[in-house]
Amino acid sequence: MELSKKVQSMQNSPIRRFNVYSLEAEKNGKKVYHFNIGQPDIKTPPEFMEAVKGFNKDVLAYAESGGSVDLQKAICNYFSKFGMSIEPKNVMITNGGSEALSMVFTSILNEGDEVLIAEPFYTNYHTFITAAGGKIVPITTKAEEGYKYAVKEKILPLIGPKTKAISIVNPGNPTGYILSREEMKVLVDIAKEKNLWLIADEVYREFAYDGREMTSFGQFEEVADRVVIIDSVSKRFSACGARIGCIVTKNEDLCGAVMKIAQGRLCCPTLDMIGAAAMYGVDPSYFDAVKKEYENRRNVTYDELMKIPGVVCQKPGGAFYIMAKLPVESTEDFLVWLLTKYDNNGETVMFAPAAGFYATPGLGKDELRIAYCLKAEDMKRGAELLKLGLEEYKKQGNK
Ligand SMILES: Cc1ncc(COP(=O)(O)O)c(C=O)c1O
Repeated sequence: MELSKKVQSMQNSPIRRFNVYSLEAEKNGKKVYHFNIGQPDIKTPPEFMEAVKGFNKDVLAYAESGGSVDLQKAICNYFSKFGMSIEPKNVMITNGGSEALSMVFTSILNEGDEVLIAEPFYTNYHTFITAAGGKIVPITTKAEEGYKYAVKEKILPLIGPKTKAISIVNPGNPTGYILSREEMKVLVDIAKEKNLWLIADEVYREFAYDGREMTSFGQFEEVADRVVIIDSVSKRFSACGARIGCIVTKNEDLCGAVMKIAQGRLCCPTLDMIGAAAMYGVDPSYFDAVKKEYENRRNVTYDELMKIPGVVCQKPGGAFYIMAKLPVESTEDFLVWLLTKYDNNGETVMFAPAAGFYATPGLGKDELRIAYCLKAEDMKRGAELLKLGLEEYKKQGNK
């Protein structure tokens, strides 16, 4: 039996596809520091569990396809704190930011349509865009150039008749790059001039460090008809397993299109929406504490990485990822070696090899992505294992 060309051209996620090796290592008694996945160890606000425990209906019924009104209202209230006036009809609740992205790309792309996105990018965009029949056109960025991409001269030559959207992750995963307001305006102007959608994935909105301002593309009223915000409770509230995200847009045609897909998949989980609505009511001090914690984890991770001879990396301004170039030919080979052949006092470390975070073939082979969402002492030890492992890898004659 034949599989579709679409699915054949997809990749397995470099964040998860090496789990077979880590599971085997763990089965054999090794401790593995999981720097590969953005799964924070920060406690989920207790408001989530309390709200779920308070559910007292006799039937766990389907919910509305667009999401529960309570959750939509809680999200509108959250956005009002950023000076954005959003109504429940502008908010479509989804099964995580992942489903939000799939639904949006399915709604706006025809076969062969192109989406501009700065590479390296969150690897699963490959899957979402390919499944929707689209093609990624990368705006290539480099650590050495500070991952800057919102530059007219860099972007305009990439736009052609098939370009439908500019997709932005801000703060960035995997680079941690944060756009300044001026850079956001450059993208807004291009979208307006070239009649493009602006897909703004802002799931890391709160995680902006060193006094950087938190902002949103939803604040640019002049492009309200073309901005689509992707959001999620996964990282904001350390609630990845809740699988609750949303699409926020004032474009009514897109709301209508997404609703068709939403009705086809019926609804999001009723209990998770109840818990998520309660989390949006947490005291704002929750975010201050979490942000401070991540900022410290970033500092520790960056300082440790800089102790590795030959490493190239930029200190990220936000989110909780760091990209680094290592003096090896293939970070994928190095990772498999770390998981299958190496340990230091029974411990090893896992990261995501970065080639899958690029669309340009050949780029990223000597790079890795680290998620610094484990506690600082774990980040320090894991980064030390990376350094010790690399020394041993080289000593054994590997390139
Ligand atoms: C940039 C970005 N967008 C979207 C997602 C999807 O997250 P979720 O489906 O858990 O909301 C992630 C998850 O890591 C992400 O990093």
